[in-house]
Order: sequence, then structure tokens, then C-alpha cells
Amino acid sequence: MAASFVAFQVHCSAQKPPISLNSGHFKTFLSSTIFKLPLRINVLKAIKKTSVKLVDAFVDSVFEFIDQPLLPSQSNFAPIDELKEAVLVTSIDGEIPDGFPEGVYLRIGPNPLFGGLKSTKSVFGRSSHMWVEGEGMVHALYLGKGVEGNWTVCYNNRHVETETFKLEKQRNKPSFLPAAEGDSPAIVCAYLLNMLRFGQVNKYLSNTNVIEHSGKLYTIAENHLPQEIDILTLKALDMWDVNGAWNLPFTSHPKKAPGTGELVTFGISATKPYAELGVISADGKELVHRVDLKLNRCPLSHEILVTQRYNVFLDYALTVDLGRLLLGGSLIKYDKEGYARMGVMHRYGDADSIQWFEVKPNCTFHFINSFEDGDEVVIRGCRALESVIPGPDQGMNKFEWFSRKFRPIESTEGSLDAMSEDQLVFPRPYEWRLNMRTGHAWQRGIPYVQGKHFLHRSRLCP
Ligand SMILES: [Fe+2]
Repeated sequence: MAASFVAFQVHCSAQKPPISLNSGHFKTFLSSTIFKLPLRINVLKAIKKTSVKLVDAFVDSVFEFIDQPLLPSQSNFAPIDELKEAVLVTSIDGEIPDGFPEGVYLRIGPNPLFGGLKSTKSVFGRSSHMWVEGEGMVHALYLGKGVEGNWTVCYNNRHVETETFKLEKQRNKPSFLPAAEGDSPAIVCAYLLNMLRFGQVNKYLSNTNVIEHSGKLYTIAENHLPQEIDILTLKALDMWDVNGAWNLPFTSHPKKAPGTGELVTFGISATKPYAELGVISADGKELVHRVDLKLNRCPLSHEILVTQRYNVFLDYALTVDLGRLLLGGSLIKYDKEGYARMGVMHRYGDADSIQWFEVKPNCTFHFINSFEDGDEVVIRGCRALESVIPGPDQGMNKFEWFSRKFRPIESTEGSLDAMSEDQLVFPRPYEWRLNMRTGHAWQRGIPYVQGKHFLHRSRLCP
């Protein structure tokens, strides 16, 4: 610091001889402008570097990463080796059907680094990754046909190399503390320490879906922006923020608008504004519409729906609740007694134009279809009555919890609402009909019994 001061004094004196070294003006000048800037930058950098090292040392000494148990029945969650280079598929069971198109089949899923999902234990308790966490890996099957009609099939896979992926890969050890489930003190610590060390709470997993828009391919997880990938090499390119116009997370299941080819998306946030909707131009270059939905809570809404004219979104009883986490509860809250709504808005409408339909609280993560039928907006989805994301109590015994919740259902005769607690997580086909003229919402379950469907219909609200 002293050396910098002297060097600066010499230079400054030469430039400004009329100003006395002892004058108040000069001291003010020094402290308020030129002297302060480079020194402040250097000091801040040094402090930041030292702080990060100190926090790293604290984490290494206090938190122990341990492997989550992987039972034989959970082998689907075990990571596989990364290839990065396409290989020829030499063994195919069965035959590729006649008329099957040439092209690329893509899928994506979590493929955790460092051998599998982790938990940590410390004086603050335990925290764990939940089952949807794990770095995204894209799998590609390239199907090409020769002149004689013989197929050539190649396979490749590659991790989605997001910023946080590269960061952990460089450190060569698990670094982000799990912040999804576990004891509240441990989760709060994970939040704070991840923020201090990496500037964000969670990793950019990009592991949930692969979409195409305007000829480009993107991987997505709903906690961050889409990541463009090269279809031939599967290498990650830039993140897609629609030329700087979209700064929110991006739903994993955006929808192509019928007719225009625009992409309808939305993003949720644990703080206000809780949910915003965006319409992106067909060429992917412009955000043509953006609206704050003015919700009073952060809904854990996984999908958005579109029809010819409308956007449909869900204000669920399943919510993200930071305050509850700090008070010792789960970050994810399912309020069976609370309200749940479906909102229908014209493609380019605003929050005041939304027509709301109250429906029975549910945990529908994925939908089958949505369309207009006369005055009705029809929505079909896979409805469950309990969250597929275990709370803190179930989180420690989640393998047992999932095995119980997803066991085969012996009978679904009668009302879906009469199911036992252990049957509530299992999603079933369901239909909602939202009448735009009368404001009525109808719903019906479509249980599957011994190869036959039967319907029951109940009126929800007048
Ligand atoms: Fe999904």
C-alpha cells in the first residue's frame, strides 16, 4: 500500500505542481478520486481471494461429502462413463422399421459427477442432493441410411459443460454443498456458503430437457437459462438469454405457439416477481412479449401450456417458500388446504386480463395436451395429489419413500379422491375443462383399469 502511495504521489505532483502536498484540497482529491480506485480494486481482489480461501478451508474442515446409497433397484440413478466421441453401434436388438426417418434422437438426464449424488454431514446436520440433481448428460443416437438402404447408427454422449460444471471439474472434487433437502440448518449453511464461494446457490445442471428453436438446440433445467449445444459434437456453446432480454430461469418445457412458431416460456423466482411469462420470436432473436403474472407466491410450476389463442399456466398449491426454509421447514411446500388455480391469458395479454379457474390442489408436473374446444380450454395432464419431491423427513429415507409411494396400485375403482396416502404421488391421466364463457371449471379423472378407461366427471366450482 505504501509503495503504491509513493509512486502515485510522484506522478501526480508532476502533473499538478500548483497543488500543495499539505493542502486539504489535495487530500480530498486523493481520497475521493484517483488514489482510491486502483488501490481499492487491488485490495478488494486480495480480500476476495483470501476470503474464498478461508471459506474453502472452513468447508473442507467442517463438511464431509459422502456418497448416497445406491441400491440395485436404483441403478437408473447411477452415472455412466462419458464418451465425448461418437462410436459405431454394432449390435441392435430387433430391426429398425421400414420408413423410419434418418436423423438424430436425443435424450438428456442427470449423470452426477464424482460417482453419484452426494450428501454432506457436519455440525449443522445433513443435507443431500435430491434425485433430480446431477450434471446433465446429453445422449445422441445418429441414424443414417446408405445408398443400399443399410443403416449406420452411431452413439455419443457428453456432459453439458455449464459454467458450474467446468468449475467443479477444475476443482476435481464435489464443491457445491447440497442445498435441496435435509436438516434446515445444514441447508441454510449450504445456501450461504455456496453464495459466498461461487456466487450462486445451486449448480447449473441443464439436465431436464432438450429443445429445438429456430434451428438451434438447447438443454434446460428450470433453475437457469438454456444452454446451446452443438448437435454434432454435443459440446456446450453459449447460454441463451434472447439477446439479453431474458434474465430469469427458463421453464424446462416451453411450448411452440401454433401458427406463429413463437416460443412461449416462463420463469419462476423465490422472490417477487414470482413468475413472468415470455413470448420469443420464431427466429429466436427477440423477446416479443414479457409480462409479470403478479402472483402472490412462487408456484413450483414445471410446465406451461398453449392453445391456438391462449397461454395457460398454473398457480399451484406446490410452492417454493424461502421463509419456511429459514423457520425449519422444507423449501418445497405443498398446501393441501390451500388454493390452486389455472390461469388463461391471451397470447399477448397482461396480468389484468388473466381469467382464473380455481381447481382442486394437485401436483401435476407434466401435461399431455391442451387445446380449445368451443368455449372450453381443455387440458390433459398426469395429475398427482402429493408432491413427488420428498420433504425433509422423507428425504433421509427417500429410497424407502419412493418404493412405497410408487408401488403398483391394486385397484382404482371409485373416486380418485378416496385413494390411500401411499397412492397420492402416483400420477394419473386427468382432464380439466375451463369454460371461458361461463367461468366454470370441470375436471375428471381417467383411471386405467385392466386395459379399459372409465371416466367420472365432477363439477368443481360454479
Ligand atoms: Fe419435466
